[in-house]
Amino acid sequence: MIKALPEDLKNKISAGEVVERPASVVKELIENSIDAGASQVTVSIEKGGHNTIQVRDNGHGITPNELPVAVKRFHTSKIYTIDDLFSISTLGFRGEALASIASISEMSIISSSKKGEGAELSIVNGTLSKVQPAPKIGGTEISIRNLFYNTPARKKFLKTPRTELRKIVNVVRCYGLAFPDIEFKLIADNRNIFNVKSESLEERIDNLLDPTYSRNLIAINTTKGDYAFTGFVGNLNLVRSRPGEQYLFLNRRFIKDRLINRSIYNAYESLIKRGEYPFFVINLILPIDQVDVNVHPMKTQVRFKDEWRLFHLLKSEVGHSLNSILETVPFFDKSFQKTNSNQKYDYTKFNPANHNISETVPTNPNQNEIDFNTFEEGLNSSNINIRRAKDYVSKLAQTKIQDRETIATENIWQIHKKYIVSEVNSGLVIIDQHVAHERILYEDALKAFESTSMASQTLLFPEIIEFSPDDFDVLFDILPYLEKIGFKIIKQDELSIRIDAIPSEMALGNEREVIREILDNFLNERKQYSSFQEGLAAMFACKAAIKAGDTLVREEMQELVNRLFSTDHPYYCPHGRPIIVQMSLDELDGRFERH
Ligand SMILES: Nc1ncnc2c1ncn2[C@@H]1O[C@H](COP(=O)(O)OP(=O)(O)OP(=O)(O)O)[C@@H](O)[C@H]1O
Ligand SMILES: [Mg+2]
Repeated sequence: MIKALPEDLKNKISAGEVVERPASVVKELIENSIDAGASQVTVSIEKGGHNTIQVRDNGHGITPNELPVAVKRFHTSKIYTIDDLFSISTLGFRGEALASIASISEMSIISSSKKGEGAELSIVNGTLSKVQPAPKIGGTEISIRNLFYNTPARKKFLKTPRTELRKIVNVVRCYGLAFPDIEFKLIADNRNIFNVKSESLEERIDNLLDPTYSRNLIAINTTKGDYAFTGFVGNLNLVRSRPGEQYLFLNRRFIKDRLINRSIYNAYESLIKRGEYPFFVINLILPIDQVDVNVHPMKTQVRFKDEWRLFHLLKSEVGHSLNSILETVPFFDKSFQKTNSNQKYDYTKFNPANHNISETVPTNPNQNEIDFNTFEEGLNSSNINIRRAKDYVSKLAQTKIQDRETIATENIWQIHKKYIVSEVNSGLVIIDQHVAHERILYEDALKAFESTSMASQTLLFPEIIEFSPDDFDVLFDILPYLEKIGFKIIKQDELSIRIDAIPSEMALGNEREVIREILDNFLNERKQYSSFQEGLAAMFACKAAIKAGDTLVREEMQELVNRLFSTDHPYYCPHGRPIIVQMSLDELDGRFERH
């Protein structure tokens, strides 16, 4: 039954601006559909909501005589008394949303309850139409047109349809992640954006974010007294340099809470740096009397009865689940771990007869040793390798060998045409020449995008490359960036270009392949990067860097090392692989039993 809230309760409701933009309308309507027990929700948008917003569900519906009541302020079927306010189990509770939306738009509602007849009501200029018979649709369909028609200033604040649509997509994604059991469809200008069936949260994450995500998830699933946490946190492959993929739900309500986010970031400890954001989708399941959701009209802020208890429990839970990452450290570091306070090495872990490092890994792993299985798996799975690598380099980054002076560039050698070995004060470093150069080029390219172009070398014989029409379109989007990197490219005819010059650091004769690969890979892999420019720079760096197998003379090695240490992140390449491996004098001494 939809009823008016009693006067004293009205005054306790945190009501106010509910509708800020089309996405807030979508949010309110989806919440109503979910509260109505829908198992299917379809959102249709035209022009980013500037024109039309429509949400249809198969929930319990509204009876014809309740239609006019539903759009009145402070009329709701979800709470009735002040006590109810402290045990809210629905997403809505204020009886405010439909009234607010109707006051600034043209609204029409068609609804039919499971058994009853269908009926329609429309509100134009604040005036309610008569309730008309309508087809039975087995649920509710609410359509909003002309949003903010009577509040021109707010209409002016609307962003472009594309931007508004992006915000709507985010809203639908949030609810999709909170309710993977519900089918969601999002259609924008007749284009299918999402169409997801009832599925597991893992599948939902893949479908709403990126199909590679589920491979990089660590499950959270625990109960601590009357609190429970479920969901996933991402491994280091899903760490991004800007926030945006942190989905926090309280009893399946999407919330924003800096303290709780912080508890999760803190659990990553040294695995992430300041300014890096891990991925998570976590639902906090708390007794409803432990939270107050009546804090802000948007209902995304909540108050916890005991936020510090929640902070510590969640941090420790997430921390536990990240142990698998924290415990994987490269083996030569680990197998000489100091095992007691006498600072003695545990030689039992080392079998000098074996030169193969992997065989020095203990076969009976315990907490403090390497998990052999993870290691084997690591060999087969680049993801785990990258995870391990990132972990290692972020530990390395804590130690101080940044200081360029400590790299003795006189004592520098190339081994196997692949690695550069050099002395440092604390021992020795081994540098992977390809990834080192990759890091340098990556940062140079990013800088070039912002300011002056990188140097070019003119080709004696310009190259002509032909493309398919699709590729040619994409090429045109990235052309200005290629020029910044040092390519000089001229459009030859409808489907071909002529390359007159290439980046001066790129080997001659590679231009055709590099451009093609940038094009192909960039299209496939761009989702890995937080921005278009980062993706492009990484792709270029990877393709243009010197390779394993390239011989380097001493001056080239010195130059490479010096430039590497003037980059912002000399420890790992744009794809997350380590650039430098370090072996301390202590470790060497340990191996030679010099203690
Ligand atoms: N899609 C729907 N299906 C069934 N009933 C609905 C639907 N949308 C709204 N209603 C009914 O109309 C009432 C008013 O909706 P409205 O969104 O304005 O308020 P609310 O959901 O109760 O609270 P809030 O303002 O916090 O959203 C609801 O309480 C519910 O009974
Ligand atoms: Mg509502």
